[in-house]
Amino acid sequence: MLGLGTYKIGQTDNDVYNAVRTALDLGYRHIDTATLYMNEAPIGKAVRESGIPREDIFVTTKLWGDDIVKNRIQEAFDESMRLLNIGYVDLYLVHWVVKGKHVSAWREMETIYASGKAKAIGVSNHLQHHLEDILDVAGVIPAANQIEMHPYLTLDDLVDYCTDNSIVCEAWSPLGSSKVPLLDEKILKEIGAKYGKSPAQVVLRWNMERGVVAIPKSSNKERQAANIDIFNFELTPEDMQLIGSLNKTYHTGMHPDEIEF
Ligand code: A2P
Repeated sequence: MLGLGTYKIGQTDNDVYNAVRTALDLGYRHIDTATLYMNEAPIGKAVRESGIPREDIFVTTKLWGDDIVKNRIQEAFDESMRLLNIGYVDLYLVHWVVKGKHVSAWREMETIYASGKAKAIGVSNHLQHHLEDILDVAGVIPAANQIEMHPYLTLDDLVDYCTDNSIVCEAWSPLGSSKVPLLDEKILKEIGAKYGKSPAQVVLRWNMERGVVAIPKSSNKERQAANIDIFNFELTPEDMQLIGSLNKTYHTGMHPDEIEF
C-alpha cells in the first residue's frame, strides 16, 4: 500500500542507491522506478545488496512511450531487466498512453507477462476510456493503474471504475508535488492535530483508506520514516469526506490525454 517513488530521487547513482537502501532499512518493501528515471541500475543494486530476500520486496518499473512508438517493447523490457538485474519485476507498467497504440501495446505486455519475468502487468496514466479500450480485448486485466492522485485531484470516478474492474489504483505525487501548497491546507493541519500526525501523513493515510496505493518520493531519511508511519491511526468518515472536498481536479503534471510521443 505504501512504496517509495524514485523519480528524480537523487542526482547521482550513489544518491539513488543510498536513498533506496535507507528506505529499505526503514521498512519500505515497495520501490517504484521507470525506464524514464534512468535509475534502474542503482535501484537494482540497492535491492540486491539490502540483505532482504528478493521475494519480500515489490519492484515496479515502466515502459517508456518512445519504445512503443519504435515498436521495441520486448527490447525495452529486456533492457530494464538487464539494468535492474534482480531476476524478475513484480509489476511492469505502460508508463503513458501512446495514442492509437495503447491496445496493441497491451497485447505485447501480455506476451511479457506470459514469460513470467513480470509477475504482474498494468498501466499508468490511463483514464477510463483508455482502460475500456484495453478491457474490450484484454486476455489479462491490468493489475494496476498508476496515475497522479492527491486531494486536489481525487479522480473518484476513475477509482470506482478501477475498483469495479479489479484494477488497483496507485497514486503518484500523492502529496501533491512541490508545485502546489497542498500540505499547507488548514483542514489537513487540523485533522493531523487530532492524531498527532502531519498533513503529509494524513494525506497518505487518506489514500490508503480509499484503497489507493501511494508512492511518495523522498530522499530524506526523516521524511521517508514519517511517510511510512501511518499504520497506527484511523481517519473518520468525516475526515475522509473533508479531505476529499479539497478536490479541484488539478493536474500538476501532464494530462493523460495530452501527452504526445
Ligand atoms: P524530499 O525528497 O526532500 O523529501 P513526488 O511528488 O515526486 O512524490 O515528490 C514528493 C515531494 O515532496 C518531494 O519533493 C519530497 O522532497 C517532498 N516530501 C516527501 N515527503 C514529504 C513529507 N512527509 N513532508 C513534506 N514534503 C515531503
